[in-house]
Amino acid sequence: MKKLAYILLGIAILSACTTSSHRDSNSVLESKVDSVLAKLTLDEKIGQMMQISSYYSSDAEKLKELVRKGAIGSLLNEVDPKAVNDLQRVAVEESTHGIPLIIGRDVIHGFRTIFPIPLGQAAAWNPEIVEKSSHVAATEARSVGVTWTFSPMIDVARDPRWGRVAEGYGEDPLLTSTLGAAAIKGYQGNNLTNSNTMAACAKHFAAYGAVEAGRDYNTVILSDQELRNVYLPPFKAAVDAGAVTFMSAFNEINGVPATGNKLLLTNVLRNQWGFNGFVVSDWSSVPEMVRHGFATDEAHSAIIAAEAGIDMEMSSDAYALNLAQLVKEKKISEEVINNAVRNILRVKFQLGLFDNPYVDETLSQRVMATDSAMALAQKAAEESIVMLKNENNTLPLSTSIKRVAVIGPMANDRYEQLGTWIFDGDTNLTITPLHSIKKLLGNNKVLFSKALTHSRDNSTNSFAQAKSMAKSADAVVVFIGEESILSGEAHGRANIDLPGSQAQLVKELASTGKPVIAVIMAGRPLSIGNIMPYTSAILYAWHPGTMGGPAIANVLFGVTNPSGKLPISFPRSGGQCPIYYAKKNSGRPADYTNWVPIDKIPVRAPQTSLGNTNHHLDDGFEPLFPFGFGLSYTTFEYSDLSLSSEKMGTNGAITLSVTITNTGKTGGYEIAQLYTHDVVGSITRPVKELKGFAKIWLDAGESKSIEFTLSASDLAFYKSWSEQVVEPGQFRLWVGGNSTTGLTQQFSIE
Ligand code: GLC
Repeated sequence: MKKLAYILLGIAILSACTTSSHRDSNSVLESKVDSVLAKLTLDEKIGQMMQISSYYSSDAEKLKELVRKGAIGSLLNEVDPKAVNDLQRVAVEESTHGIPLIIGRDVIHGFRTIFPIPLGQAAAWNPEIVEKSSHVAATEARSVGVTWTFSPMIDVARDPRWGRVAEGYGEDPLLTSTLGAAAIKGYQGNNLTNSNTMAACAKHFAAYGAVEAGRDYNTVILSDQELRNVYLPPFKAAVDAGAVTFMSAFNEINGVPATGNKLLLTNVLRNQWGFNGFVVSDWSSVPEMVRHGFATDEAHSAIIAAEAGIDMEMSSDAYALNLAQLVKEKKISEEVINNAVRNILRVKFQLGLFDNPYVDETLSQRVMATDSAMALAQKAAEESIVMLKNENNTLPLSTSIKRVAVIGPMANDRYEQLGTWIFDGDTNLTITPLHSIKKLLGNNKVLFSKALTHSRDNSTNSFAQAKSMAKSADAVVVFIGEESILSGEAHGRANIDLPGSQAQLVKELASTGKPVIAVIMAGRPLSIGNIMPYTSAILYAWHPGTMGGPAIANVLFGVTNPSGKLPISFPRSGGQCPIYYAKKNSGRPADYTNWVPIDKIPVRAPQTSLGNTNHHLDDGFEPLFPFGFGLSYTTFEYSDLSLSSEKMGTNGAITLSVTITNTGKTGGYEIAQLYTHDVVGSITRPVKELKGFAKIWLDAGESKSIEFTLSASDLAFYKSWSEQVVEPGQFRLWVGGNSTTGLTQQFSIE
């Protein structure tokens, strides 16, 4: 007994020391911050709050002069290590106080090694891969002096018309929270002073993904409950994962621009969640509050943003031109400025920039696009591919196939397959599907026709040649989708069909009678219902990045078993948007007995002859493909769902186990998903909510039992802005392979 007591005492002392050493290191950090702050003039403080986009290559001396006089604290878009060191040397050795610069860059899905777009990475449901790829990105970016990425983007998005759906992790708060946290850990590692880490930036705070009609920068009108229960959780997870910076969003929320939203930026982010990093505005979002009609002029926008909690202004100069005068006129307290500068200095110390501001200018030659980085990029791309259709097991194709026709504008385009936000990618590194298929089969077995010059090409001139090529092949693989410019910032689309004459190309190829396999590369879900009748199989590869070619070829020919699952619902048309699985039931939920498809409605049908339920006459009420859906070359069976108890207290938990069996002939990953439904709430609750997922490998014939723990706190929700509750009542849960299926069981909270 005595030994155990000593052990416990030891643990107690250790943890007390750890806590106190953590507190001590915090207090050491804070005293360093305060000692620097104390030396600064008001102008020098405001200089730290300025971030400008680098123009070193065009006017180095002017930029150095700004740095020398302490007029800027951060640059974005400088990726030349020599330029970074030149500017750092001025900051550290020639300015009055030697405060180093923090260099930011949009490293969204890789720096030189480009990984699948984040929406594609989300389809892999693999936090480990997201963490590892973010670590590769940090290693490559920091090697040129970039110490801060404007990533991860954790805006929940339920409207694929929005171009930036490409940059996030889809429609679900839990999946987005999990993958966003993984990215932050990958970027920041355990020690931000290491040369293979960089500051992460949780963006765009908040609710940017809810812009009306998917039109970028547009209005966001959301209930407090929706904001709290759907759009904010990933940002809370980002704080918990230790993100050291946040970025405010362009949009307003219910009449208040995010960049001037003190309730979010201070009350929630700092006071409730304990965030103590710094917040940067988005590009000119401070003065844009004048256009929003929320500020009378830029001086007013500077007051609003600074008092709301924007510590650093990106690219515009409302702070630089107005804050000093506003302090002198006592229109804003200097303490507001001091707090902002403290937050910025704190992160610069955490990054080790005061001790080691320079980058080894030879480092980047050693760390860019290594074999291991490429291998990871291929694995990430393979696991991101979602097989949406595979009629009569068309896939996998056999490598002994005599001849395959590879057709389409996306089959061999080194640039387009990289996707949006790839400023520092290198297209020379890209391996295309055509290249990989030829490598796998041998050149003589592969026929190729681009058929269209680009995804928006409306011509049909090359269709005859493509068709004759298809006729002479045993199978046709058509590579279609979107050029990368059609998604990303400011690139919303009202019509999310395949652009150009791509759908017609598929139809023409199918008319040859050969099996047509469509491989789609896009930055969003496309409404592809019009090619379904003409395809035997469909692989959705998103924009798969540098190693998309080998990844797609391996899935096509069965070297890799596809395992991706949709992180976002696929609408039948843009007109169905927004459409998502975690919908409310409404008072008249639709079903197939109450919906008469528009082309089946009798002429002169009487007014009340059709079902009056929650559907569209033309597209009905279900997406083309549901959240969580994806096929495999094998099959999985769920059995033996059992709960540790069918009831729990409001502070309780239950565990549930389920057995999954690979009932097919080949090994594969299965992504098991746990959903719950709160049957009756003090506000209406979604028909399903993802509460857990597990990605497991099963050999052919293998069975595994997996466990989930479901606690009452997992079922908590905000019934109002400030009231989060766990409500007793009946619940139902499902465990299965997508959001529409699974073994189900009731349980209750007492
Ligand atoms: C852009 C984007 C933001 C990006 C920033 C810097 O407008 O909204 O996500 O990080 O400006 O490029």
